[in-house]
Amino acid sequence: MAWLKKKSPCGQVSEGRIPKHIAFIADGNGRWANERGLPRFEGHRVGKDAIKKVIDRCFDRGVSVVSLYLFSTENFNRPKDEVEYIFNLFRQMSGELVKSLLKRDAQFRLMGDLSLLPADIQVSINDIIQKTSTCASRVVNFGLAYGSRHEIVGAVNKLLASGIKVITEENFKNYLDTAGLPDPDLIVRASGEQRLSNFMLYQAAYSEFYFPKKYWPDFDEKVVDECIEAYQNRKRRFGNI
Ligand code: IPE
Ligand code: IPE
Ligand code: MG
Repeated sequence: MAWLKKKSPCGQVSEGRIPKHIAFIADGNGRWANERGLPRFEGHRVGKDAIKKVIDRCFDRGVSVVSLYLFSTENFNRPKDEVEYIFNLFRQMSGELVKSLLKRDAQFRLMGDLSLLPADIQVSINDIIQKTSTCASRVVNFGLAYGSRHEIVGAVNKLLASGIKVITEENFKNYLDTAGLPDPDLIVRASGEQRLSNFMLYQAAYSEFYFPKKYWPDFDEKVVDECIEAYQNRKRRFGNI
């Protein structure tokens, strides 16, 4: 059991193997707020600040693609005022987001069904995509109105409509919302829950998983380093020996 004892040198994550793509499931905003006697909204508000910290730390550590699952297709079933509050946070953050993406030469991608989002958010997402379209060093991929089953069924329908007769792994992945992106090396779910909740079901085939015991609003630079360290202690085999 030598691998159990092997620990990567603490605080030296940048010297080890860095995942190319980390995908975060940003969960636990409501519980973070409840534990503080605050309304759920407060958790979402503070969770918004964690998004920037996490992206920045990942990029500082050399990660090239950061995916964030922020709002699922199922989350539309939540009370209207909570859904509206979350969309308002996106409205508030979009200006600053473009600036920081451009500073990092990071392209913005959306995974999710744009048509399910409010019209003004569709416009602002298209605007961010367009403004960052020539950025080539990094990628920030937001999961909004995203559900993996919806994505997979949509991909199959698009393939059928394109007239393709034989579906292969190669052509299929080009019809997913993550087309052109590497599969996530590491999937991190905040809040301690250990499930995918309809996230990247196809792309996660060989991802490593890590579940910090922290709610999303408490995610910061230290938690990102902890995630990368956990990844550096894994041995990926891809079915080989
Ligand atoms: C994640 O936090 C944010 C969204 C899913 C939109 P939650 O709102 O799910 O928080 P918990 O899981 O109820 O604590
Ligand atoms: C998953 O969280 C979706 C996002 C974080 C955006 P949920 O809170 O919706 O997932 P469940 O309901 O606990 O599975
Ligand atoms: Mg949740």
